[in-house]
Amino acid sequence: MNCAERLVEIFGSQADVARAFQLDRAVVHNWVKTGYVPARWAGEVERVTQGRISALDVIHEASAKNPVRVKSRPEHAPFGLYESEPMSQYAPAKRIQSFHPPQRTLMGPGPTEIHPRVLTTMSQPAIGYLDPIFVEMMEELKSLLRYVYQTKNALTFPLSGPGSVGMEYCFVNMVAPGDKVLVCQNGVFGGRMLENAIRVGGTPVVVEDKWGEPVDPQKLEDALKKNKDAKVVAFVHGETSTGCQSDAKLLTQIAHKHGALVIVDAVTTLGGTPVKVDEWDIDAIYSASQKCLSCTPGLSPVSFSDRVVEHVKKRKDKIRSWFMDMNLLFNYWNAGTRTYHHTAPTNSLFALHEALLLMREEGLENAWARAMRHHLALKAGLEAMGIKFLVKEHYQLPQMNAVLCPQGVDEAQVRRTLLNEFGIEIGAGLGPLAGKVWRIGLMGYSCRPDNVMLCLSALGSVLSDMGLAVHVGDAEAAAHGAYAQMHVKDAQRKKRAA
Ligand SMILES: Cc1ncc(COP(=O)(O)O)c(C=O)c1O
Repeated sequence: MNCAERLVEIFGSQADVARAFQLDRAVVHNWVKTGYVPARWAGEVERVTQGRISALDVIHEASAKNPVRVKSRPEHAPFGLYESEPMSQYAPAKRIQSFHPPQRTLMGPGPTEIHPRVLTTMSQPAIGYLDPIFVEMMEELKSLLRYVYQTKNALTFPLSGPGSVGMEYCFVNMVAPGDKVLVCQNGVFGGRMLENAIRVGGTPVVVEDKWGEPVDPQKLEDALKKNKDAKVVAFVHGETSTGCQSDAKLLTQIAHKHGALVIVDAVTTLGGTPVKVDEWDIDAIYSASQKCLSCTPGLSPVSFSDRVVEHVKKRKDKIRSWFMDMNLLFNYWNAGTRTYHHTAPTNSLFALHEALLLMREEGLENAWARAMRHHLALKAGLEAMGIKFLVKEHYQLPQMNAVLCPQGVDEAQVRRTLLNEFGIEIGAGLGPLAGKVWRIGLMGYSCRPDNVMLCLSALGSVLSDMGLAVHVGDAEAAAHGAYAQMHVKDAQRKKRAA
C-alpha cells in the first residue's frame, strides 16, 4: 500500500484526509490517483498521523515515483552543448547542480518553517501582476492583512521587500528633512530605526533603555516634554534581539498626547502576540512575512492611518525615494487605479495570501494562544535544565525566547551541533549579547509541540555531552508537565463555560 492509500485507510476516506490536512479534496484525490504524496508534505504527514507514516517513507516513495531530474553532463563539457562556445569562459568553474535544501527545524528568530499549503501555493504557475485574477487576489490579501492587523485602514498592503523595506518606507514618507524624531532604542532594531531617521535627514532624539528591558513610558513622556516640536515617535513593539515586548498601546497614547505620530515595528509581534492597530490608534506600522506569518521572506505588510496619508500628501518637498513614494505606490495597490508601478513578486504574494488564510482559519486569538502555550512548555523545559531568560517574565515575548547561555559553554559549538546533528536552527545573540544568549523562536508554523520537545531533547543531550550537569529527560518531563497543567486548566475553563 502506498502512503496516499495508507492515509485514506487511517482517516477513513479521502474527504477525511483532506479535512485532517486542511486541504481541498481534489489535492488528496490527486495523491491517490498518482500513487504518492509529494515530498514537501513529508513532515506534515508524519505529524498529522502521529508517526504512523514516517516522513522518510513519504520522501522515499515520492523520489522513486517522481525523481528530481538533474541533467548530468560529461565533466569536460559541463556547461552547455558546445564545448568551444566562447561564452563558457565566464561560466562557473565548478560543476553546479540543482539546489535542494535539507529539511530543517527552524527555531531561530526567523525565517520560520513554511506550511506545505503555502509552499504548494507558491509553486503555482506565474501570472501577470495586472491579470484580473491576480488583482482579485490582491483585494483579498489586503482584507486578510486588515484582519491580522485588526484595522480598517484603507492603506494596508504588503510592500515588495523584507521588513527593513517596511521600516525605511515609514521613515522616507513620514519624516521630512529637519523633522524631529524621537527614537526609542532598547535593542538592535531600535538602532536601525535611528539610522533611518538620520538618513532621511530627520533630527533624531534617542530615548534609550537597557537591552532586555522594555521601552520606559516615563522616559518617552519626559523626552516629549523636552522636545515639544517632535513630529514622530518610533519604537519596536517586540525587540527580536532581546525577546522583550514594550507596551505599544501606552507608548502610542503618550506620543499622541504630545501631538506626535507613531511608527511601530511589529516585525516579530504580528501574528504571535496581540497587535491591535485601530484599538491602539497606531499611525504607521510594518512587519515582515517570514516571522509569525510563516511565509517566504521578502514581503513587508504595512498599514497606515488616514492621518498619515494626509500628512504625506501635505508634504511640500518631494519624497526622497522614487520606489518608496507612498503617493506613487498607492496607484498600484489601490483598487480604483491599479497602474504599473513595479513588477510585483507575484508568487510570493500568492504565498502570503495562503499564509494569511491559514491564520484566518486558525483564528488570530488561537494563534496568539498557541504561541503562549508552547512558550510556557519550552520555558518549563529550559528552566528545568537551569537555563535562565534574559527578560523579566512580564515582558517576555512568547515567540522569541532569549535565554542566557550557561557559563563556560561554547555557545557557537552548541548551535553548530544542534544544526549538524539534529537539523535544528536556533539564533545567536546580536551586538552586546553576541556569545551570551541563544534566541529560540516559536513563530508561525514552527510553533508546534513536536518542535518544542525536539529542541529540549536535543539541547539537553548536547549540553550533557559537553559536560554540563544536565540530566537528560528532565526538560522533556517539565515541558510535558506544563502541557498537562494547561490542558487541565483548559478543560476546567470549557466546563465552566458550558
Ligand atoms: C524587530 C525587527 N525589525 C526589523 C527587522 C528587519 O526585517 P528583515 O530582516 O525582514 O529586513 C527584523 C528582522 O529580524 C526585526 O526582527
